[in-house]
Amino acid sequence: MARLKVAVLISGRGSNLQALMTACADPAFPAEIVQVISNRPDAAGLARATAAGIPAAVIDHRDYGSREEFDAAIDAALTRVSAGLMCLAGFMRLFSAGFVNAWRDKIINIHPSLLPAFPGRNTHERVLAAGALVTGCTVHFVRPEMDSGPVILQAAVSVEPGDTPESLAARVLKAEHRIYPEAVRLIAEGRVQVMGEAVTIDGAPAPKVLPADPNG
Ligand code: GRF
Repeated sequence: MARLKVAVLISGRGSNLQALMTACADPAFPAEIVQVISNRPDAAGLARATAAGIPAAVIDHRDYGSREEFDAAIDAALTRVSAGLMCLAGFMRLFSAGFVNAWRDKIINIHPSLLPAFPGRNTHERVLAAGALVTGCTVHFVRPEMDSGPVILQAAVSVEPGDTPESLAARVLKAEHRIYPEAVRLIAEGRVQVMGEAVTIDGAPAPKVLPADPNG
């Protein structure tokens, strides 16, 4: 069966990109990364893609007069490589509603909290300040509002006494690297449906919640 063509959009470090590249390096994995795009020329993730022989392009938002023009450039790049799925992996730009709706259910994002709790930036600081005992990460289909949309997979991560934003981020990141490739696999295998604004996997009504990793 043909592998699902995936484009990964980044703005920085690219550790989730790396997790996706590692999964896709297995010829038995049902998806392949055909394009990496960064909106920042200094994103460290670009070098990871190049090292793996994956085409990497910079589409710098500062080169465009409006959000719509930037989105049109992304659209053209994705169409050129026939991408069937776009994975946002630390991509720090919001798309226009028109772009998101044109790619409805073909854009997914990873966020380092159990959405809908703690959308937005500085997530781990806010989780700690709120005294939450459990946090985690979420892979979801993208809707125009930031960090919103049907949940595909989540993983729970315990908040430990003495956690700092950095220590918590590191544990959550390990879980991110586990569930992002898993979500792509489920989509590529055609096992994910969006019914209304809820996701079913293999026809089951609720998103699958992965338990906390005992080694995480
Ligand atoms: C991750 O924590 C991701 O959940 C968030 O931004 C971070 C990106 O990290 N959206 P990396 O660039 O994948 O290492």
